[in-house]
Amino acid sequence: MTEIQSPRETLTVELGARAYDIQIGPGLIAEAGTHIAPLLRRPRVAVISDETVAGLHLEALREGLAASGIEMVALTLPAGEATKSWPHFTRAVEWLLEQKVERSDVVVAFGGGVIGDLAGFAAAVLRRGVRFVQIPTSLLAQVDSSVGGKTGINSAQGKNLVGAFHQPSLVLADTAVLGTLTPRDFLAGYGEVVKYGLLGDLLFFEWLESMGPKLASGDMAARVMAVKRSCEMKAAIVARDETEQGDRALLNLGHTFGHALESATGYSDRLLHGEGVAIGCALAFELSSKLGLCSQEAPSRVRAHLRDMGMKVDLRDIEGDLPDAEGLLALMAQDKKVVDGKLRFILARGIGEAFVTSDVPGETVKTVLDEALALR
Ligand SMILES: NC(=O)c1ccc[n+]([C@@H]2O[C@H](COP(=O)([O-])OP(=O)(O)OC[C@H]3O[C@@H](n4cnc5c(N)ncnc54)[C@H](O)[C@@H]3O)[C@@H](O)[C@H]2O)c1
Repeated sequence: MTEIQSPRETLTVELGARAYDIQIGPGLIAEAGTHIAPLLRRPRVAVISDETVAGLHLEALREGLAASGIEMVALTLPAGEATKSWPHFTRAVEWLLEQKVERSDVVVAFGGGVIGDLAGFAAAVLRRGVRFVQIPTSLLAQVDSSVGGKTGINSAQGKNLVGAFHQPSLVLADTAVLGTLTPRDFLAGYGEVVKYGLLGDLLFFEWLESMGPKLASGDMAARVMAVKRSCEMKAAIVARDETEQGDRALLNLGHTFGHALESATGYSDRLLHGEGVAIGCALAFELSSKLGLCSQEAPSRVRAHLRDMGMKVDLRDIEGDLPDAEGLLALMAQDKKVVDGKLRFILARGIGEAFVTSDVPGETVKTVLDEALALR
């Protein structure tokens, strides 16, 4: 894998008339106005953010927009997954209407995946759809949720069950803002970065094995590289399969297990989304090995890297009680990825060689879970 020369990168998500750019690099917030101005009919944007991100970075965004003569109004919602709910969604939509956001205006999502998903969904339904720009501020949002157009909220029945496909018009991933993330939130996002290596790029995984610690300790070139490679992979998959009829499901590596664990821990601080994905990836490789699809070394290597990075790796890393294997299987069965009553798994023939299948014996999944639970 070659080192990057410049800390600024641009990618395009190739979706015909809805194609858009992803800009990656430090300092993009200060230049936000320059990048957003070409999209605007009038020099005004409505920004949706959360309290934590707004407290740290909203003024910088205001200045970055003002430098190009763009006025900004902002709504700040509480930080955290609980915000991705009907009440906050209603508030956001009504606020946008109060601000007289018109069909030709642009909404800006300024925050992590929670804000991106909620603001994107609000933009999707406002006046039957207005354009929006993603300015993702968490690592998870920069490498995953801001790209690809999945927007939505959670409901009492489960996570992400209400939403729409609505592609952004532009993504500005300012890698300098990652510096204010808590180490835990940074590493949760890193879980999604590792996922890309595991699902389709052994060389990238090897690069992460050697560069991961530098990346975590703030090396900007490494951060730009990791965000770029992750977005490149996501953009290619989304361009092939925008609405998840096939290949896009590869991006769900680790999610069938991960979502069950998130549900079992009540979507609480006990387990962040990216942490569930990392543990889920380790379990998906364990299952692949158990089914004879990949070597026994593959799951050990996945675990070793996650462990080196100081991440949650096993079920025993989750504090508090968990359901038994039957209980976890029941939670998996509620996942969106169930098709015709059959669970869809993303398995692997090796690191970087994932594939989608519904042909997995429930007994083997139960054995993997029983063994993982026995280690707690
Ligand atoms: N749409 C998609 O394709 C997609 C993909 C993956 C995940 N998601 C969704 O994304 C959400 C998780 O995203 P997340 O991990 O970004 O959660 P999040 O938005 O809750 O952000 C995590 C925490 O980090 C804080 N934060 C964000 N940027 C910060 C910064 N620069 N400095 C300091 N603190 C900062 C937030 O305030 C929050 O407390 C989940 O709801 C998940 O379902 C969506």
